[in-house]
Amino acid sequence: MPVTIRSFAKINLGLKIGPHREDGFHELRTVYQTVALHDVLRLQVTRGTGIEIRTRDPRVPTDESNTCYRIAERGMKALKARGRVVLHIEKSLPVQGGLGGASSNAVATLLALERLVGTQLAPEERLRLAAEVGSDLPLFLLGGTVLGTGRGEEVYPLPDQPPLDCVLVTPEVGVSTPRAFADWDCSPSGKLTASRYSDKLSGFSRTVFAWLSGFSTGVPTHKGGNRAEALLLDLVRAGIENDFEDVVFPQHPELRHVKRALEREGARYASLSGSGSTVYGLFESRAAARKAAARLQAAGLPALASRTLTRREYWRRIWK
Ligand code: C5P
Repeated sequence: MPVTIRSFAKINLGLKIGPHREDGFHELRTVYQTVALHDVLRLQVTRGTGIEIRTRDPRVPTDESNTCYRIAERGMKALKARGRVVLHIEKSLPVQGGLGGASSNAVATLLALERLVGTQLAPEERLRLAAEVGSDLPLFLLGGTVLGTGRGEEVYPLPDQPPLDCVLVTPEVGVSTPRAFADWDCSPSGKLTASRYSDKLSGFSRTVFAWLSGFSTGVPTHKGGNRAEALLLDLVRAGIENDFEDVVFPQHPELRHVKRALEREGARYASLSGSGSTVYGLFESRAAARKAAARLQAAGLPALASRTLTRREYWRRIWK
């Protein structure tokens, strides 16, 4: 019997790039947030050997360059399972869009494999496999609001935030993540001294701490309005921006225009997600998000209204 699983997207609520490390990666600080938009994956293990990926989307690779292929190979080994893995990917998320689609697909593949085989890997083994395949995979082992450090693969669950309505716009602009990091290194902002980097990263930690404190004590910094709106206003005030905007916007000015358009349509906070090309806006109500998405679509932009997904909802809705 095949297993069907939802593979949700993420956005980055702020992202700070730190120094270039000896292993070639960059130290990062980010807050990931899962959203309701998702792909659907159907997985089965049949007689035979190997891994077969089927999809109607020609942009999705079906060979070992697909993160699902790589994790399925490792997962079968770790689970000491035999057979041919047949994976069908029904794609709704944009490919290479800064929404972590490929990473999320890979984690969904691992979870579905575990269910099919009837064995669960130990949490640290799951984390090890996920982190080996990519920096953006481990967050999908937690879901909800997640702090990401290290190269993004060291993840810690943050308290669930009230769901927020959002609009995601993914223009057909190919932004390469390795290239964006390389551009960062050459940019004036990427040439900080070690102590300036350290100040910058601890500044991010302090900002997130202050932002979260409002929720854990039940006293948001912003007075009045509902909790979700308070979060929005606190976020804007906290100013946790995405460093990638500094290098990606000058190269793709249309993405800066999308951010401005979201702000004009009433977003309380708008930002590039990861290295893009998705730009998202957070809205104070579902009606406001839907109206903004409709107006942006009418202006020719590929806008979708969605909602952030708490950890609880993430796990409640993952199996289809
Ligand atoms: O880990 P992942 O496969 O997503 O990374 C893709 C590429 O992005 C890496 O090979 C590296 O060039 C760059 N990267 C980085 N620092 C990070 C994450 C990714 O330089 N923290």
